[in-house]
Amino acid sequence: MPDLEALKEQAAVPAALLVESGMRVGLGTGSTAKYAILELGRRLAAGEVRGVVGVATSDASEALARDLGIPVEPLDPRPLDLAIDGADEIDPGLNLIKGLGGALLREKLTEVQARRLVIIADHTKVVSRLGEKAPLPVEIARFGFLSTIERLRALGLGGRLRQPGAQPFVTDNGNYIFDAALPQAFDPATLERQVKGTLGVVETGFFLGMAELAFVASPEGVREVRG
Ligand code: A5P
Repeated sequence: MPDLEALKEQAAVPAALLVESGMRVGLGTGSTAKYAILELGRRLAAGEVRGVVGVATSDASEALARDLGIPVEPLDPRPLDLAIDGADEIDPGLNLIKGLGGALLREKLTEVQARRLVIIADHTKVVSRLGEKAPLPVEIARFGFLSTIERLRALGLGGRLRQPGAQPFVTDNGNYIFDAALPQAFDPATLERQVKGTLGVVETGFFLGMAELAFVASPEGVREVRG
């Protein structure tokens, strides 16, 4: 059975093949998006496409793109032709949870401007309902974060501040992340409104109704899923 790394690459390559000359492309973040950036770099270096510009969703993806010779520009109000990114969970309607890598705010800011958001993932990311396996990452301001977490708990959310070591995880934007355990039954759009409306919350990892297409790789092959 192929290992997960091979599956991530198998999902990423067909997405990178959607990039055409002259496109402005949102570059995702994470261990799967990395393979799309690598393939885009290869295609540019091989002359298969020209004049492509990337808009990076994290400092790490920007550094990788620049290393590969992909020109990177900051996000501005112009639409992006395409964005390619991984996900932590994908439901049957292509609603997503993202942000286990911590880049959810820049990902959402970038991908909401994309004419097409294409998701790439191995089959372990596919769920029948959001919250089945992953927590919901919620980016929160550092100032008063304990009070913000109390307010999130009052919404019925369990979970914890992301703290991989002695200090809390800090996002590229200088914020903390609360990894919220989701209840058994909930309406994602309603919960998104409630969490976004909570004082101290900067953004949530729900990406609802944003993705158009997903390439999902499994040992049986790569499947296209449409929203
Ligand atoms: C980054 O914050 C995330 O949204 C990633 O896109 C997501 O966590 C998927 O990452 P992997 O491809 O590493 O699983």
